[in-house]
Amino acid sequence: MNKVSPVPANEIDQWDHSHEFPVRRWIGRNSIINAGLIAASIVLAVFVSPFFLLLWPVAIVLDDLALLAFRFSIFNADEGVQACYRWQNLFMTGSTNAGRDLGFNLFDGDVNKPLSQAQSDKWDFMLDQLGLQAGDRLIDIGCGFGDWLNYAKSKGILVTGVNISDEQAHVGRQLYGLDVIRANWKDIMNDPDLKKRLLGKFDAVTLMDTIEHYAHAADFRVEGKVEAIYEDLFDLCNELIDSKSRIGRVFLSCIHWTEENPRTPEGPERNWTWVDTFSGLLMIRTYSGFYPRGPMGLVRNAADHFNEICRKDRTEDYRYTAVIDRNHFQAPKFLWTFRKVLYMPIFFILDPHFAHKWIGHNALGIKLDAWMRTYGENYDSLTFDADYRARVSHVQLWWIVLQAKKTEVQ
Ligand SMILES: C[S@@+](CC[C@H](N)C(=O)[O-])C[C@H]1O[C@@H](n2cnc3c(N)ncnc32)[C@H](O)[C@@H]1O
Repeated sequence: MNKVSPVPANEIDQWDHSHEFPVRRWIGRNSIINAGLIAASIVLAVFVSPFFLLLWPVAIVLDDLALLAFRFSIFNADEGVQACYRWQNLFMTGSTNAGRDLGFNLFDGDVNKPLSQAQSDKWDFMLDQLGLQAGDRLIDIGCGFGDWLNYAKSKGILVTGVNISDEQAHVGRQLYGLDVIRANWKDIMNDPDLKKRLLGKFDAVTLMDTIEHYAHAADFRVEGKVEAIYEDLFDLCNELIDSKSRIGRVFLSCIHWTEENPRTPEGPERNWTWVDTFSGLLMIRTYSGFYPRGPMGLVRNAADHFNEICRKDRTEDYRYTAVIDRNHFQAPKFLWTFRKVLYMPIFFILDPHFAHKWIGHNALGIKLDAWMRTYGENYDSLTFDADYRARVSHVQLWWIVLQAKKTEVQ
């Protein structure tokens, strides 16, 4: 059990590139519905009754209730993922090249480690587990800004990224000179060019804190849909791996709900409240995803092609990174610039869940800490204690290494 003082928030944006993206590329189903609702509210308020001004907020709240109660929503969840990273990209400070990636750092109980050391320790652990050497080929799905790929590239590894986010893919190319494909991984098997370019071409696949976005809350309404998404993911990973590779491994990092349902807690320390439910809704709307349940909730769908060869619980490292780095997306402090203020009305019109993002991240000075609450009681403690966290947290962060059966030495 260790304790240390937090690192102060950075005072400047390290990499602000929002101006490179024309707003017209942000328009999709969700923005059209949202802008339409706002326009209808205003027109009806002017010509019929001022009460119609409530049409837009009531419609958004009803859609939230439908998601909670029936797992139904009129909004497209993959567009929600893109909107999430567009928002982070513009409004959060030091999103990349800031001594950490878009996941978390590896302290492993050593709280005196500087952030940058804890970051490279994480990447060195991954290189070691994967057995990657100069000249080996790596693909990272959901590659964020490409910080990990850039590190691997510095070790002579041949790297490719896949990312659904326009903005992040662009930064990965511009800032690090990486080969980043702007795509939803779910479309790869339907695209002949991408199949030709990617299938059977890699020694290792990484999926770092991205799988949480792949199955959406509404997908749980359809029996078997979530399992099918994870099966497709592992089918793709298997197809990406060269069957003659001496490595043939997948490294994944993914938050899971604990086995028991948090609303029916087992044991006195795991306590789920209505504030947690509200926070959960805000997180689903912000990040547009949902966690697999239980330690096997994800990888049981990999069994056709892979054997699990290593597993580590890194929940406390994830939580702790946010506690000592107040720029971290789990509990960030926002620094305001004139341009950010100018972007506010555009986001308001184009993003139906703009308010959810702010409320979940402590807007208006209300400390909700929606993300951090999933770690259970004392979620902002400066003490690093993995055993305690395992008892109280509603979530567990698993690092899992899988070996492709087709590359196993007989
Ligand atoms: C929390 S970030 C993690 C980024 C990076 N792996 C890291 O650890 O720094 C999640 C990433 O997954 C990407 N992503 C989410 N859904 C995706 C999808 N369906 N296809 C490709 N990328 C996706 C997001 O755009 C984002 O870059």
